[in-house]
Amino acid sequence: MKTNKITRRAILGRIVRFAAPYKFSLIFSFLLGLLSVSLSLFIPVLIGRAVDMMTGPGAVDYDGIVPILYAIAACAIGSALFQWLMTAANNRITYNVTRDMRRTAFRTLQSVPVSFYDGVAHGGLVSRVISDVETVSDGVLLGTSHLFCGVVTVAATLVFMIRLQPVVAAAVAILTPLSLFVSRFVASRTYGYFKEQAEVREEESAFSEEIISSQKVVKAFGKEEDVKRIFREINARYEKKTVRAVFFSSLVNPSTRLVNSVVYAAVALIGALFAVSGGITVGALSSFLSYASQYTKPFNEISGVVSELQGALACAGRVFEVIDAERESPRSEGERIGSVRGDVELCHIDFSYRKDRPLLRDVTLSVRAGSHVAVVGPTGCGKTTLINLLMRYYDPASGRITLDGVDVSTVAREDVRRNFGMVLQDTWIRSATVRENIALGKPDATDDEIERAARAVRAHSFITKLPDGYDTVLSENGGSLSAGQRQLISVARVMLTAPPMLILDEATSSIDTRTEIEISKSFERLMEGKTAFIVAHRLSTVRDADLIVVMRDGEIAERGTHEELLSENGFYKKLYDSQWRGAEIGEG
Ligand SMILES: Nc1ncnc2c1ncn2[C@@H]1O[C@H](COP(=O)(O)OP(=O)(O)O)[C@@H](O)[C@H]1O
Ligand SMILES: [Mg+2]
Repeated sequence: MKTNKITRRAILGRIVRFAAPYKFSLIFSFLLGLLSVSLSLFIPVLIGRAVDMMTGPGAVDYDGIVPILYAIAACAIGSALFQWLMTAANNRITYNVTRDMRRTAFRTLQSVPVSFYDGVAHGGLVSRVISDVETVSDGVLLGTSHLFCGVVTVAATLVFMIRLQPVVAAAVAILTPLSLFVSRFVASRTYGYFKEQAEVREEESAFSEEIISSQKVVKAFGKEEDVKRIFREINARYEKKTVRAVFFSSLVNPSTRLVNSVVYAAVALIGALFAVSGGITVGALSSFLSYASQYTKPFNEISGVVSELQGALACAGRVFEVIDAERESPRSEGERIGSVRGDVELCHIDFSYRKDRPLLRDVTLSVRAGSHVAVVGPTGCGKTTLINLLMRYYDPASGRITLDGVDVSTVAREDVRRNFGMVLQDTWIRSATVRENIALGKPDATDDEIERAARAVRAHSFITKLPDGYDTVLSENGGSLSAGQRQLISVARVMLTAPPMLILDEATSSIDTRTEIEISKSFERLMEGKTAFIVAHRLSTVRDADLIVVMRDGEIAERGTHEELLSENGFYKKLYDSQWRGAEIGEG
């Protein structure tokens, strides 16, 4: 992915910006945390008082103890309640941030140039937008709240302890940072491992997506075993990376616990010495001991959170790589034009996807409004590329394209695209009704308009034979329809929006010859009176074009009408003859 790596500090800054809109909720949640922690910290004080009321056999002050018991219960319940409220508030914030991040990432994906997708695995992107985002908001936001409560607990406990016995408190304060030190050391290692883990997860998603979407090809070539083997390999690598990441991150907890236990024992010893010499009461010692354990507990949690944060930051870096991908200028930026007449000029166009491999060279073409241009040539000669430039999916390296005399590079991309109707080899059927699918480009079309468009392109009769007619719900990719039927829906779709210009790129390539002859009538109807660019494999479909452009290795080799080109006896004639022979042996 063509992106800039960002530092961990910058990543944190970015996350803070995503959380900023929820600052009041965050403050509220922190207040709840503060209340919850304070109440629970008050309990040891109450217990200490109760203990002092029952020192010695028979010397138990019941009247004094009962209210203290009530107070303890109230503190416990209050603390639990506030903690629950805080968790609820945190979850709200977390999922709001998840939503915002995904929206931003998805918006970027809609704003990057088409070329962005050339070099990335699609499943990997999915993994970043879905699972990485989840890890980030989960880890960072919930982590932060744990961190906050931990810090508050530590600070408050320290205050209470100093009031009980400053010397012992000082001992605790000096000894406990040891555990933080240990956890920092281990966590710094785990960041890298979690990053590797996320990378393999991305690879795994990408591979799954690729294989699931090409099941038929996989089966046709009998590649099931190979695919399973590759998946097993990636999966095993994921296991290895995960085990390592988790191994190191899980070291954090036990090692800090160990340090804490030692600290606790030391505190107990020092405290006991003070109690024996009469420095503190027994009740105070008991409060002290529960504080000492409460004081070390947050350090465990904090260190746990720290390792979780490492994982979250690693994922965040990957999410921001997507979010920061270089966008195109907005598609609405530039000169606004309405419907064009349809005069198209290409002047000395040069273009390549990659600098080292020049593709289109000096392509010049002039198309009058309403005329039909067929572009033919061997696979890979640059036909689709030419279309990509017309649609402004890519911009030429040099030369210029004009619509009605206006340089398209100055026109809003949105307006250029709106003027073209496009039918491709791959159809895009959404999981929606037939009606909604036809109305894709004009959602406010009336039922009557939709039906008229369908009739015009001869799609009406097959649609009425579907179980629910126009209201039949199609599955994604129109699995239940034939390739020809899917294509008819695409044609009706373009018919409905009635753009002044058309692009048909191999629109009939996945349709058998007989159906193609029927569908070609639909195409004729669609193209009536419109400027049309027809890219076709089969020469039979281009014969009637006003102009045929023959491409070869990124250049226009010949141009003319069918008859002219045949009589020239050049490259076109050769292509034509080879197809004709192909037709005779049944490949036509
Ligand atoms: N997105 C891309 N990135 C890099 N190279 C590409 C890309 N799309 C097409 N190409 C290459 O450009 C050449 C022309 O492709 P294309 O215009 O799709 O050919 P066709 O005439 O078959 O439609 C091919 O060699 C192809 O491999
Ligand atoms: Mg092509």
